[in-house]
Amino acid sequence: MLELLRQSKSLLVITGAGVSAESGIATFRGAGGYWEKFKAEELASPQGFQRDPRLVWRWYHERREKIRQQAPNPAHRALAEMEKLKPDFLLVTQNVDGYHSQAGNRKMIEIHGNIWRLRCTREHKVWEVQEALQELPVRCSCGALARPDVLWFGEMYHPVLLTQARQAAHHAQVILIVGTSGMVGLTAGLLAEQQQGQVIEVNLEPSELTETADFLLQGPAGQILPRLLTGLKNREGINDDTE
Ligand code: OAD
Repeated sequence: MLELLRQSKSLLVITGAGVSAESGIATFRGAGGYWEKFKAEELASPQGFQRDPRLVWRWYHERREKIRQQAPNPAHRALAEMEKLKPDFLLVTQNVDGYHSQAGNRKMIEIHGNIWRLRCTREHKVWEVQEALQELPVRCSCGALARPDVLWFGEMYHPVLLTQARQAAHHAQVILIVGTSGMVGLTAGLLAEQQQGQVIEVNLEPSELTETADFLLQGPAGQILPRLLTGLKNREGINDDTE
């Protein structure tokens, strides 16, 4: 498995909430996950926003403040290093926290958007959050409500970004999936595109995607990815029985 990763020129990485778990950011599903306490359709859907924009804004505001207080972890940093080692690299993240770019990844698609960007619901103008927000819900300078520039349930993926992700999945020699439950169809859809790639999964536990994966590296991403990186750079770092 390590040899495969070493020799591959094209690497697609797909990440989910689990990659930020060791930064102290809650995942969505499982114990302590957001969807245990909150209803997704109330907080992360256009209908929920229409019904109660203040409630939705408060939730995003709290998440933003939490993300601001925490930082990328060794898993994010290892992925930023991997980008430098592979000539054909793409990271597709479902996370909106911005930690991958903070850690240094540049060849990257934030397919669910970014919590640090806001978007006018009337003019669709996009801007970045500059400072702590005072008054919620936030409005655009035109007076219309602003919303977080993230993808909500029931909304379509950006077609250009989705095509880029699909093309990468189609030709990648290795697809590394990290910290995603696979409960949202995106990752399974991308894995269905792959032609010749080998799929390596990193997760605390087997997921919906494990059957499709060729290898499961079970454990915390913040420990496994740095070891995988070391193994990529030289022949040590991870005990690889599967080579
Ligand atoms: P989930 O919360 O569904 O899944 C998190 C996954 O990370 C689980 O499989 C955990 O076992 C795993 N995990 C947790 N801690 C880990 C760690 N330290 N190391 C490795 N794995 C770990 O999150 P996503 O799959 O990202 O969408 O969820 C996908 C989408 O569903 C999200 O982007 C969000 C959500 O509803 C929207 O809001 C549109």
